[in-house]
Amino acid sequence: MSYGLLRPLLFTLDPEHAHTLSIAALEALGHMPQSLARVTRRYRVSDPRLAQDFWGLHFPNPVGLAAGYDKDARATAALPALGLGFIEIGTVTPRPQPGNPRPRVFRYPAQRAVINRMGFPGEGAAAVAQRLAALSSHPIPIGLNLGKNKDTPLEQAQDDYIAALELLFHYGDYLCVNVSSPNTPGLRLLQGEKVLRELLSAIAAANQRLAEQHQRPPLPLLLKIAPDLGDDDLNAIAALALGTKPLVDGFVATNTTVERLASQPELSECGGLSGAPLLEQSNAVIAQLYRATRGQAPIIGVGGILSAADAYAKIRAGASLLQIYSGLIFRGPELVREILETLPELWLKDGYPDLAHARGSAT
Ligand SMILES: Cc1cc2nc3c(=O)[nH]c(=O)nc-3n(C[C@H](O)[C@H](O)[C@H](O)COP(=O)(O)O)c2cc1C
Repeated sequence: MSYGLLRPLLFTLDPEHAHTLSIAALEALGHMPQSLARVTRRYRVSDPRLAQDFWGLHFPNPVGLAAGYDKDARATAALPALGLGFIEIGTVTPRPQPGNPRPRVFRYPAQRAVINRMGFPGEGAAAVAQRLAALSSHPIPIGLNLGKNKDTPLEQAQDDYIAALELLFHYGDYLCVNVSSPNTPGLRLLQGEKVLRELLSAIAAANQRLAEQHQRPPLPLLLKIAPDLGDDDLNAIAALALGTKPLVDGFVATNTTVERLASQPELSECGGLSGAPLLEQSNAVIAQLYRATRGQAPIIGVGGILSAADAYAKIRAGASLLQIYSGLIFRGPELVREILETLPELWLKDGYPDLAHARGSAT
């Protein structure tokens, strides 16, 4: 059944219930090889022009799933069948926790927006590690998005990121340090320059130690940032990826925003806003990071992609890879295919031979 037919049904349900159902359906699909092959045939776009290589990883295409959808890695076996180029699981916290009281996810179809205040509900890193260990195949890169438990004092945040990393290191391809969700009290304070340098140094040291232990290279370390930072903060953050000893290998920009436009008073629930209203703001952050790093650190661009044109705008702002979440709620997996089928046309129309030449062209 196409998402167009399923969507009216899902939209009659509470958004979190619809999410739980979709995860359960994908989890079941992960155990049905024949159906999985059928879904793969429907959504996969095999076009060598889309393939990207960063951090020693191969991405069959640049469109990934953003963190927050597959928090506990329940859908990880089936998600590659939707044509995605990579998956970021999590946010995973070291210990299980319930998250905030419900309702905590709100859909705004007219604005193509979502507000969430989930607060990192999840089964914890050990359960996620067990699930990833049981995967029979690993066809696309898996990012590990890590966060801290709500009851861990901010001063001990680094212990949480490291505890989760120790359990998950073996099962992921890159690491994303999430200091930008608005729904864990104080978390965004970790974006301050001094505290961020300390946090990332500690995580990088643990990453190095685990690499030696597992006899493989350290995981590429990415930092996920908020869209609500000013240029001074962004320049300081960009500097983390520069110099002879960079602390991070790239960025995921951006998380949801706590800002609201006066022109959209309906979007009044507390929490992080995502979807169409986030597009311009996240593109401005990507462009500033791209300029400040002189294009030297790959950026995964995320925020408000609901069409191929939105995806292309993110690449022109400086993104090397892309992620989507709210777009999947409103458009379903057809959005992935539409982006993949259209992107090469868009860069060729502008006279660029490939994605790399289009990158940053709007900055
Ligand atoms: C319901 C929901 C839950 C989310 N949970 C997380 C999360 O756990 N960790 C995280 O880093 N981002 C989380 N995000 C943010 C997304 O990964 C993404 O950065 C943001 O939604 C912007 O992209 P979009 O406009 O395509 O949705 C969540 C977003 C939504 C809508």
